[in-house]
Amino acid sequence: MANVKFYAGESFPLEMHKVRIIQKLNLISVEERGRAIAEAGNNTFLLKNKDVFMDMLTDSGVNAMSDRQLASMMAADDSYAGSETFTRLERSIKHFFGTKYFLPAHQGRACENIMSQIFVKPGYVVPMNYHFTTAKALITVNGGTVEEIIIDEGLKIKSSYPFKGNINIDKLKSVIDSYGVNKVAYVRMEAGTNLVGGQPFSLENYTEVSKICRAAGIPLVLDASLLADNLYFIKQREAACKNMTLHTIVLRISELSDIIYFSARKLGFGRGGGICTNNHEHFLKIRELIPLYEGFLTYGGMSVREMEAIAIGLDETLDEDMISQGPIFIDYMVKELEKRNIPVITPAGGLGCHVDAMAFLDHIPQSQYPAGALASSFFIASGIRGMERGTMSEQRGPDGSEHFSNMELLRLALPRRVFTLSQVNYAVDRLKWLYDNRGLVEGLKFVEEPKILRFFFGRLEPVSDWQTKLIAKFRKDFGDSL
Ligand SMILES: Cc1ncc(COP(=O)(O)O)c(C=O)c1O
Repeated sequence: MANVKFYAGESFPLEMHKVRIIQKLNLISVEERGRAIAEAGNNTFLLKNKDVFMDMLTDSGVNAMSDRQLASMMAADDSYAGSETFTRLERSIKHFFGTKYFLPAHQGRACENIMSQIFVKPGYVVPMNYHFTTAKALITVNGGTVEEIIIDEGLKIKSSYPFKGNINIDKLKSVIDSYGVNKVAYVRMEAGTNLVGGQPFSLENYTEVSKICRAAGIPLVLDASLLADNLYFIKQREAACKNMTLHTIVLRISELSDIIYFSARKLGFGRGGGICTNNHEHFLKIRELIPLYEGFLTYGGMSVREMEAIAIGLDETLDEDMISQGPIFIDYMVKELEKRNIPVITPAGGLGCHVDAMAFLDHIPQSQYPAGALASSFFIASGIRGMERGTMSEQRGPDGSEHFSNMELLRLALPRRVFTLSQVNYAVDRLKWLYDNRGLVEGLKFVEEPKILRFFFGRLEPVSDWQTKLIAKFRKDFGDSL
């Protein structure tokens, strides 16, 4: 976003785009919201969109596309094999990352599945800055272990450290030593670390990680799904990169990586994914699995329209005006919440605003899922759908014991270019009301608990009638307001 100063001295985000297509929203009453969340088993994934006012569940596949992206979709060349659309996407990706090979996949977790199938064997370890839900599940399903070696600062809620997604270099060395090089499947670095507040890594840290991997002969795998935000933060926060172009930074990151995979639901603002490498051996192994799990090599499960949109989306990712909107809106929201003493991860990261449920609802034990309770109560208070990113998003151990998450977060995603500033202000207002009434909120318990990735479709119920009391208090405070 452009550097525009305001006469009155205030500072707030100024969009460098205009809106030309809109979608009508519906805000149902607080009583209806209470019924909707109960029907959804207190799991915001199970809400129906017709009952949701602002959908802040995720940015995955729901960022607003540009006019250029929409126009490109109309000119897609549909063919099972050898479509012109694929050639355009391949050209765009090879230009973006500067890699020799690109293989398409239907989404990010499909790439993770292929990575795990090829590299992970029982007893192997994958060290990483921090796990992502599907990445971890696919590594463990193949008998591997995940070692999270993010720097200590990365797990502090309040911090001014600019690169909380960095790997702790000493821990990386000691994980390699303790497992032995042959048992390290690969090192995974996640751009814009999703589960700990969308926090970036620095180019300096990535360079060191790469040096260690290269010296040990261990592949360095980049999850580039949230690279756009990470890129913006490197340019803004890393002094040595201030005068580099965004593309120079991407190419530098790419040179340091052995394999790059991404969800194009995030990177490129479309739906799909892909894997890039310069390594011919890796390419051959990965290529074998694409037709088996994804589709033929020139579509990999993606529609041609989406492929056209991703090609343009990647080009636009190299435009700072295009990729700054998310981080700047998130920064605004984080600062407004901080002004109201609402506990939130700082510094502001990418993806969304992350409310610290452990502090917000410090009377709810982790065994009763404070982040899930916050997501459920915030939907009742506002009609806004956020996502639980805490213990509910973890898996139980083989003996059935809970694995308490390092952080209990309510993630309020800001899909890029989707919400206006007044809608963000509405979210802040309702969160403040909930904070002032937090004593009314109690915990949740599972009534239906899937074994794998339970957060997607598990069902819970409140431990008491606290939701009825919360709705009554809303009515008392807001009268007949929605
Ligand atoms: C960092 C990261 N990696 C992988 C994925 C999985 O991608 P997909 O949802 O396209 O399967 C996501 C999705 O949110 C993600 O944020």
